[in-house]
Amino acid sequence: MDMKSKLGPVVGQINNQDIRANQLLRRDLSVWEGGRYTPSDGDDTNQNSGAVRKLTDKAKSIVIYWSRSGSTELLASKIANIANSDILEITLKEPYPTDYLETRSRANFERENDLPPELNMELPDLSQYETVFLGYQTWAMTLSQPMKSFLLNYGSKLSGKRIVPFETQGGFGSGDSEDLIRQILAQEGSTKNSFERALVVDGNMVDRSNKVIDRWFNRIDR
Ligand SMILES: Cc1cc2nc3c(=O)[nH]c(=O)nc-3n(C[C@H](O)[C@H](O)[C@H](O)COP(=O)(O)O)c2cc1C
Repeated sequence: MDMKSKLGPVVGQINNQDIRANQLLRRDLSVWEGGRYTPSDGDDTNQNSGAVRKLTDKAKSIVIYWSRSGSTELLASKIANIANSDILEITLKEPYPTDYLETRSRANFERENDLPPELNMELPDLSQYETVFLGYQTWAMTLSQPMKSFLLNYGSKLSGKRIVPFETQGGFGSGDSEDLIRQILAQEGSTKNSFERALVVDGNMVDRSNKVIDRWFNRIDR
């Protein structure tokens, strides 16, 4: 794939919106490079589509996620389908650049200076949900900055929920992401949470992860 191209092929849908996940074209390990240099598809900026928001009054779970280059969004769509969940995409005031290296510099600055990005979203009433699936990606061997912002802003609203993390990564693992989720929730005053072990999928394999997802669902308590 021409890595300058911004729009990968459509690989799925989430709440009737197209998902483009251009990492899936980097299946071959010689071009995968652990996700490095993947441009975003522009959809995380919601320039080409609205923020994904599916809210019903029946669902017992909600998938809350953020995705830059579409892999976590594709995973979010699969989980939401299996669990019949509502869906909420985290959106930012200032989207990350399409370019990978520019994104990395900004993300590193935010992490090193403890300045996670400002959100641009409204949190719906979460009282109907027993389970909150949290979808994010490994950045610099920790939780990506947008999910960190979400938890810092809204962690206190997650009291009493079963927290089920899922993430995509470039092949180096999750680092301390799961621990950080617990830590931030406790720090923000979220109480009475139960936690499931995270589902971790390589960003270039999400379209081939159905079996892994099923096994994970069988392990965790639905
Ligand atoms: C700024 C940045 C930092 C990253 N750091 C890591 C890392 O430390 N370890 C890793 O395995 N993958 C890392 N990755 C790769 C992403 O976790 C991987 O590409 C993920 O699937 C992207 O998810 P998305 O398509 O939902 O945005 C990084 C990607 C970016 C953009």
